[in-house]
Amino acid sequence: MNKVARTEIGKFSHFFPFSATIVTSHFDGKDNAMAVAWHMPVSANPPLYGVGISSGKLSWEYITKTMEFGVNFMPFEAAELVAATGGPSGRKIDKFKSFGLKKDASIATSAPILSEAYAAFECVVEKQAEYGDHTLFIGRVVALHHLPEAYDERGRLNLNIVKPTLYLGGDNYLQITTFNTPHLDRKETAEDLARRNA
Ligand SMILES: Cc1cc2nc3c(=O)[nH]c(=O)nc-3n(C[C@H](O)[C@H](O)[C@H](O)COP(=O)(O)O)c2cc1C
Repeated sequence: MNKVARTEIGKFSHFFPFSATIVTSHFDGKDNAMAVAWHMPVSANPPLYGVGISSGKLSWEYITKTMEFGVNFMPFEAAELVAATGGPSGRKIDKFKSFGLKKDASIATSAPILSEAYAAFECVVEKQAEYGDHTLFIGRVVALHHLPEAYDERGRLNLNIVKPTLYLGGDNYLQITTFNTPHLDRKETAEDLARRNA
């Protein structure tokens, strides 16, 4: 394969696929939800989770005002909700009403938790920093909601039970229809590769 190298980055999408989440927020009696594909774990202890949101969004405003947000991990059956919440702004419509979004009770924040999510975090913002055209909100995960049966004892998602909404950028999604989950022991694999390259 002949790769091409360039310093003109252009469309910034080569990191996909990522899972696409729905970030929720609540302010002044109103709930909002937006699709967010730019998200990542930042620390395990304490548990910190980051989301990248550009400043024109209503969610940006709500999160900045309340310092709280929810991150909802959605099964592929709910991919339409991800796409729809990534369309019109909550400034124009009530997405909860228009898209029939249902909520579970939040236990530590005012951020709505979506009933369709197979896992969700309630987060309190610890740091907020602007990078280029996005703001990185780093939230401390103060509550976890999840379907216990979808995870094994080590916290790994069982893909026979839940298939996440994976996203390729633009309006393109990735559906898992067949899969295998190979186990690569890191120590043995490193030794094996080193032996083969000796
Ligand atoms: C799959 C998908 C992923 C998205 N990811 C992000 C993201 O990571 N950050 C962002 O600022 N906007 C992202 N968007 C766009 C917002 O979801 C969209 O602008 C939304 O309407 C903002 O809603 P709000 O104004 O109600 O907050 C994404 C859209 C889609 C469809």
